[in-house]
Amino acid sequence: MQVAIFVLVLLVFKQGKGELFDFHIISSRQSSSDGEMLCQSLGYDGLAIINAPEMFTYAIRITVALRATGHGLYLGLRNKSDTNLVNWDDGTFPAQDLPWKPNPQSWDFTYNHYGILSHTGYYRALSNEEKKYAVCGNHENLPTEAFGTTILGQQPTGISSSLSVTKVLSYLECVLLCGQDHRCRVAEFKIDFLTCMTLGPGSYESFSVNVQSKTFVRKGFT
Ligand SMILES: *[C@@H]1O[C@H](CO)[C@@H](O)[C@H](O)[C@H]1NC(C)=O
Repeated sequence: MQVAIFVLVLLVFKQGKGELFDFHIISSRQSSSDGEMLCQSLGYDGLAIINAPEMFTYAIRITVALRATGHGLYLGLRNKSDTNLVNWDDGTFPAQDLPWKPNPQSWDFTYNHYGILSHTGYYRALSNEEKKYAVCGNHENLPTEAFGTTILGQQPTGISSSLSVTKVLSYLECVLLCGQDHRCRVAEFKIDFLTCMTLGPGSYESFSVNVQSKTFVRKGFT
């Protein structure tokens, strides 16, 4: 029998104002590089890294009014000229299920090297020159959150690859590990072996019965 429990885990509760994530919105429009400088002049590391589903949900919510003006917001996401790869400004790579538009499958940063949260609420690439709003944030020790459900007695099957397999003491620790990796979408705790396996988007096919399993299914990008 499958039992679903609502789980919300807050790892670091950092903000006095009751918000987990410390994002600052720049509500004037400028290039990505000018937005980054503005963020740094305000004491932030730079443009915000919004790589996890929970951060995305929060960012979407706090930018509703600005996005309604028809302009997006620059983020700390770019095609680095030295590597030609798209990554977040902390060096991590975007999760495979990041909601891109207009190209849902491709990260087309060939000519447009700077990432924004678009006015329609998706990630997309722009050139530096276009004048947009910006989201500021810090790049280290980001607070993490894992929002999802627990299924008892079910394990993921058809696994193509895992992000990590770790010895843990409890299911809670397993959920926390999942929240620390922006790519984690499922974490399976094995009660008999005390192991935690984390899986990224699209790396498993379905779930099957295993009484020794307790599995956390994180709410992805929606
Ligand atoms: C990054 O930009 C270069 C051209 O400057 C391009 O060749 C490369 O494909 C781009 N990388 C991605 C992942 O879009």
